[in-house]
Amino acid sequence: MILVVKIVSVVGRGKIAYQLYLHLLKEKPIEDFPLHVEKYETVDMFVNNHIKAPQVVLYVAEDYRDEQEVIVNVEKLLSVRKTMVILVSPHYNLNLATSAIDRGVFDVINAEDEQTLKSVINLALHAQEVKRGYVEISDLPEEDFPDDMFIGRSEAVMSVYRAVGRVSMSDVPVLITGDTGSGKELVARTIHKRSPFKNGPFVAVNCSAIPETLLESELFGYRRGAFTGAVEDRQGKIEAAAGGTLFLDEIAELSPKLQVKLLRVIQEKEFERLGENVKRKVNARILAATNRNLEDEISQGNFREDLYYRLNVATIHVPPLRERKDDIPILLAHFFKKAVRELHRPVKGITARAVEKMLSYHWPGNVRELINVIYRAVLIARGEYIMAEDIILNPSYKINLNEGPRIKRLWELEKEHIQRVLDYTGGNKSLAARLLGISRPCLTQKIKRYGIVVNKKRLKV
Ligand SMILES: Nc1ncnc2c1ncn2[C@@H]1O[C@H](COP(=O)(O)OP(=O)(O)OP(=O)(O)O)[C@@H](O)[C@H]1O
Ligand SMILES: [Mg+2]
Repeated sequence: MILVVKIVSVVGRGKIAYQLYLHLLKEKPIEDFPLHVEKYETVDMFVNNHIKAPQVVLYVAEDYRDEQEVIVNVEKLLSVRKTMVILVSPHYNLNLATSAIDRGVFDVINAEDEQTLKSVINLALHAQEVKRGYVEISDLPEEDFPDDMFIGRSEAVMSVYRAVGRVSMSDVPVLITGDTGSGKELVARTIHKRSPFKNGPFVAVNCSAIPETLLESELFGYRRGAFTGAVEDRQGKIEAAAGGTLFLDEIAELSPKLQVKLLRVIQEKEFERLGENVKRKVNARILAATNRNLEDEISQGNFREDLYYRLNVATIHVPPLRERKDDIPILLAHFFKKAVRELHRPVKGITARAVEKMLSYHWPGNVRELINVIYRAVLIARGEYIMAEDIILNPSYKINLNEGPRIKRLWELEKEHIQRVLDYTGGNKSLAARLLGISRPCLTQKIKRYGIVVNKKRLKV
């Protein structure tokens, strides 16, 4: 996590400068990014002591009547590297404003106009980030990848390409493993497209999305009357994939019963529709994917070993994005251009800091998360360039108190623990207090507060 502190210095001695300073201390111009505000009484104090970082300087010219003096000060401020100067004047003075802007002041504003002040500071901060470096969209590599291409140049991706090349031409089942969003389905589609089955359909079934009974009829199909609601004969996905590829996603979620049935499909290359006795031939390539460790699932008794060995004739592991950060720029370039095109936004480029921020993130959601972050940034960008603060990472970390699992309160745990220890000591409070490391009166108090029932009989804990 990089902490970005936006520095805005207020230079000026008078009441307005002081009020502005207080105001800015409370202000957060850009959501989620702290604003660091410094105050200097005079221009010389700033020039000699300022923090050496890019910053926006608000020069509050309460002595605005002395134009000469103000301009001298403005020039001093402008000579400090990496600063953007905004001239704040208690009253508007066209003459002064013109000569200040001619000299390179970012803007001249009226001290009372809070709204303008805020947006000008924001603009200046943006402009400053752009000044530090950016990439224009038009400078991005021209390569136009087809929509469903597995993009990447890293060594890790090269080994995925090689593995895809090795298995594509055969008809053996392939197990594709990798974290969520890493591109397993994309790899499956790539295998399909390069295989002898490429002219047939690619049929994907998500084994975790539907309940067991539905999944069974979905996969195997059924005969009319096989169960309530089966009003007509229907072919399943296995049949639908004939001549093509059947992609079983989230295979670890398959129920034990369906695991047995699938094993037969792979071993005997045949199956029956539900409610029917006709053996039908399987005529599809089977690919499976999981983000779990199937060996762990086997040792916990959740996944059949024999099925695992059948599926795992060849394995392709798709590495997580954090292990192939070299691929981020190329993915970024591709999806950034795509997002700008699709969302019709007047975005011209992306700043170096925004890129840095993406490079230093660990991407738990992998390529899918990267794509979402880019689209979101393009959508919310206020300027022509994507700024670091437009790159919003981990929005899901914002916890909603009304959603998610119920978390036990601390006192509930304490109550349960005391209850357990008292049961263990057979209601002996002195012993319980000693075991708990608290005094006896303290224990008595807690027993009362929590309404704990003290059982005299010693229970097994
Ligand atoms: N290397 C890549 N190049 C281009 N796009 C990619 C790449 N990897 C993933 N994507 C895209 O990212 C998104 C997620 O990929 P995909 O659905 O294949 O992931 P997954 O591993 O199947 O995820 P899950 O485990 O959540 O099902 C898709 O839109 C996919 O097109
Ligand atoms: Mg998937």
